[in-house]
Amino acid sequence: MRALVADPAQPERIALREVPEPVPGPGSALVEVEAVALNRGELNRLALADDGWRPGWDIAGTVRTAATDGSGPAAGTPVVGLLADGLGWAELAAVPIGALCQRPAGLAATTAAALPVAGLTALRILRMGGLLLDRRVCITGGAGGVGRLAIQLGHRAGAEVTAVVGRPERAEGLAALGADRVVVGADAAQGPFDLVLDAAGGASLAAAIGLVAPGGTVVTYGNSAREPTTFLVNDLYTKWGASIRGYFLIADAWRDPPAADLAHLAKLVVDGRLDPQVALVGSWRDAAAALAALRERRVGGKAVLRID
Ligand SMILES: NC(=O)c1ccc[n+]([C@@H]2O[C@H](COP(=O)([O-])OP(=O)(O)OC[C@H]3O[C@@H](n4cnc5c(N)ncnc54)[C@H](OP(=O)(O)O)[C@@H]3O)[C@@H](O)[C@H]2O)c1
Repeated sequence: MRALVADPAQPERIALREVPEPVPGPGSALVEVEAVALNRGELNRLALADDGWRPGWDIAGTVRTAATDGSGPAAGTPVVGLLADGLGWAELAAVPIGALCQRPAGLAATTAAALPVAGLTALRILRMGGLLLDRRVCITGGAGGVGRLAIQLGHRAGAEVTAVVGRPERAEGLAALGADRVVVGADAAQGPFDLVLDAAGGASLAAAIGLVAPGGTVVTYGNSAREPTTFLVNDLYTKWGASIRGYFLIADAWRDPPAADLAHLAKLVVDGRLDPQVALVGSWRDAAAALAALRERRVGGKAVLRID
C-alpha cells in the first residue's frame, strides 16, 4: 500500500511511498482510509523526523476487516478514529477499537477526519475547567484547529469566551462561532479568567498566567511558538488556588480511550451543533502544499487530505 512518509530530501520533508500493510492486533480494526487531517504537532515532528517515519493521528474511512476479538464496528462500517501511534496517513490503518467510532450517516470522511486530535483536545481541555456555565474562558490560538472547536464547545457549555488571535484578519468568523470577544495578542485580553487554554507557549503562556483568576486554571497544551516561557512567580502564587496544568491527548488517549467522546463530537457535527471548520481539503498527493500552508499560518481551521 501507499503511505505518506518522512523524507528529509523532499519539500516539507514528505513523500508518498510503498510501505507494508498494517497487521491489526485482536482489538483493532483494519480501516480503508478515505481522509486524514494534518496537525501542527505532526508538522513539528516531521521537521525533526528521520527518513521513513510515518505520521498520522487522524483518520476517517470504512472498516475493511473488523477486530478479530469481535469488538467494535463490522466490516463496511464508516468510521472515524485516532491513532495514538500515528501511521494514519496511508491507504490502510489498524485502529484500536477504543479509539474508533462509527461515522454517522451524512458525515463525510473529509469532515470527520478533522475531529479526533483537534476535537478531543478541545473537549478534554475545556473539561479541565469544570462547570463552565457563566465562567470566563480565554482561548489562545483561537483561529487554529483546536481553537475554533474550543470556542464553539466553550460557548455551548455556557462560558463567556475570549479568543486570542495573532493578527486582526485571523479574527474573521470567530464571533459567529461563539467568541464573545476576539483580541489580537494575549496581552490585549481582559482578565481575570477562570480558565485559560494556551496553545501558543512562549510569551503567550506567561501572559496566560497573568490572566488567570484566583482558583482558576491555566491549561498548557501547545508550544506553537517553540520558545521557553519566563514568568514572574508572583503572578501565580498571589492568586490563591490558581494552577497550571499540562495536557497531552496522545497520552490521555491511552489512559482514557476516546471512542465515546469521538462519537459525541461526531453526533454534534451531524446535528449541526458543531463545525470542525475544515478550511483546506486537498489530495494527499499535494500534502507538501497543505503542510506549508499550515506551517505558515494560512489555514483558518483544519487542513484535510483525501486519500485518493
Ligand atoms: N497537547 C496536546 O495534546 C495537543 C493537541 C492538539 C494540538 N496541540 C498543539 O496545540 C497547538 C495548537 O494546535 P492546532 O492544531 O490548533 O494548531 P493550528 O491549527 O496550527 O493553530 C495554531 C494557532 O496558534 C496561533 N499561534 C500563536 N503563535 C504561534 C506561533 N508562533 N506559531 C504558530 N502558530 C501560532 C496561530 O494563531 P494565528 O493564526 O491567529 O496567528 C494559529 O492559529 C499546536 O502547538 C499543537 O501542536 C497539542
